[in-house]
Amino acid sequence: MKIWLMLAGTALAVIMSPAQAQSTGMKVFTEHCANCHGTDGNGGELGPNIAIRVPLRTDQELASVVRQGLGAAGMPSFGTLSAAEISELIATLRSLKLRFGATPVHGEVTLTDGTRIPGLILNHSFADLQLLGDDHKLHLLRKQGDRYRAVTSQTDWTSYNGSLSGSRYTDLQQITKTNVAALAPKWTFNFTSNSNLQTTPIVSNGVMYVTSANEIYALDAGSGREIWHYQRARTKGLIGNAAGGANRGAAIAGERVFMLTDHAHLVALDKHSGTLLWETEMADWRQNYNATGAPLPVGDLVIAGTSGGDEGVRGFVAAYDQKTGKEVWRWWSTPLPGEPGSESWQGKGLAHPAGSTWMTGTFDATENTLYWTVGNPGPDMIGDDRLGDNLYTDSVVALDAKTGKLKWHFQFTPHDLWDYDAQETPVLVDAMWQGQPRKLLIQANRNGFFYVLDRSNGKFLSGWQYVKDLNWATGLDATGRPLRVPGMEPTREGKRVCPSLTGGTNWYSTSFNPLTGLYYVQTDDKCGIFTRVDANWEAGKGYMGGSFAPAPDPAKRLLRAIDIATGKTRWELPETGNAGSFGGVLSTASGLVIFGEDSGALMAADASNGQTLWSFQANARWRTSPMSYQFDNRQYVAIAAGSTVMAFALP
Ligand code: HEC
Repeated sequence: MKIWLMLAGTALAVIMSPAQAQSTGMKVFTEHCANCHGTDGNGGELGPNIAIRVPLRTDQELASVVRQGLGAAGMPSFGTLSAAEISELIATLRSLKLRFGATPVHGEVTLTDGTRIPGLILNHSFADLQLLGDDHKLHLLRKQGDRYRAVTSQTDWTSYNGSLSGSRYTDLQQITKTNVAALAPKWTFNFTSNSNLQTTPIVSNGVMYVTSANEIYALDAGSGREIWHYQRARTKGLIGNAAGGANRGAAIAGERVFMLTDHAHLVALDKHSGTLLWETEMADWRQNYNATGAPLPVGDLVIAGTSGGDEGVRGFVAAYDQKTGKEVWRWWSTPLPGEPGSESWQGKGLAHPAGSTWMTGTFDATENTLYWTVGNPGPDMIGDDRLGDNLYTDSVVALDAKTGKLKWHFQFTPHDLWDYDAQETPVLVDAMWQGQPRKLLIQANRNGFFYVLDRSNGKFLSGWQYVKDLNWATGLDATGRPLRVPGMEPTREGKRVCPSLTGGTNWYSTSFNPLTGLYYVQTDDKCGIFTRVDANWEAGKGYMGGSFAPAPDPAKRLLRAIDIATGKTRWELPETGNAGSFGGVLSTASGLVIFGEDSGALMAADASNGQTLWSFQANARWRTSPMSYQFDNRQYVAIAAGSTVMAFALP
């Protein structure tokens, strides 16, 4: 039987099937399925929202999923259910409603020009509607009289830093110095599972994708309405940052959205429906690997690294085929004993060398070169068993994107003892350098120095101290090697070293603005007490070799604007707080710098002089970086604050 339901005149015709919750079916569901998929099927800690998946499957397909399970993905098989029980269960599945009360139903929407779009209505409100068309494309619609207007994005942000150069700069100019004072939230979306989000939202074809550990939502980027949700169990017994729920975001290419799981698997989902397409184990989490980064699509590959640098993994960067998930190449960040580079590891240190690769790299298409950063050696604060430079830890490496072959490396902190990961984004800039056009790579490093390299060969061009206090080196030599101050290693009594363990800066985003020639970076003038503690590597245990406390000196966070030609700080904006937040930076073609300020506000300043122009008190303990996109001809700035994704626009 077909029931035609008239909503708002003729705009929305819904075909309902007379599915009723069968008592046997509901009983089976409650007993066997609800603990993972939630009592309403909208997803729980251990399984995804299936309310949206069920209408995409035939009864036969559902029966086979239930009978056989999805072993690799974590869904058990239910071979003992009888045929009758399964058919009752399927009727129950077909009655599942979405989070906001709607059962996804097949229907048809009429556009203002009379075009009809048949498909699955996933969600709707008084103002908007999200539909998965029979063409298997998402359609985002806005109510207009008794019909609908199709809307989408005009400017996207498809990977972690927005562009492959890593500059976190947008060409959008709608929000300007003169009107930014009116910027206000347009919508918010709350993660119920994580109050410490680290994701950078990405946007493609009108859809925003936001992540937490093992969880991703697709949202209508103009209203924040949920389109689909994918979730799977957090890994029990996991250690490292991913165990705390950190995940820095997804990436999109073609029809697929990619993300890393907490236990270092790379997954590809159908961007329209959130269905799992493939899953590849990058490394064994039981050997202390975990993953928190956002992958980077390049050509027909997707590139990713892992976390575990404080837990003594052996780091690597790897490339996977976007279609199949098959590994194409892998570059290890540390040598095996006897291999070239192993002479920089004297002692037993190569057994658990660390050198993890936990942040997103950058890419230069003309050179077909990937630039990826490598973290600290292990144990972080004890160097006795790893005398030498410890290649390629605390370095940036240039890799051939096709083969993963090393082209060059530059090491910022040889033989690191203070956890000075080099994970800050290696930003690619084409600019004049001493009168010549040059391909540069710039980075403010965690160790307190700002570097300019020639990215075609890795040659050091210049470097300057950007924090107020730096006491582990007196400067850099002509090759960029730090001039070390002896006796600064962590001790059992505790050693005061500047910058602190969290660095002069850290993983949160920086921005280079080609119009001002300035590089914007959130910096901490902060020292720390480094205390040595014995470390033995064990699966399931940390491998820091020390502990860390703030030094008694006052700590201060400043947004600094560095002139990349001179290394001089052109202006600085002191923030309110004690340098405890991790908010990143975005800059715009309209001359704004937008950043997460230390007191918890999202703030905008004049990119040319640092004058503050706008702030919104989000009361966030920032762990995220902002991005920008244009949807339905309106520019948005979005950022995750605590558990909430917020999208701002002009009135
Ligand atoms: C231990 C947890 C767990 C239990 C119990 C469980 N599932 Fe799942 N289920 C999962 C996971 C994880 C996935 C995700 C697999 C994927 O995304 O491909 C999944 C996927 C599904 C899908 C989507 C398949 C698709 O089309 O992609 C359906 C439908 C489903 N489960 C139904 C059920 C039913 C019905 C039951 C009870 C009989 C059940 N599940 C019990 C974990 C579970």
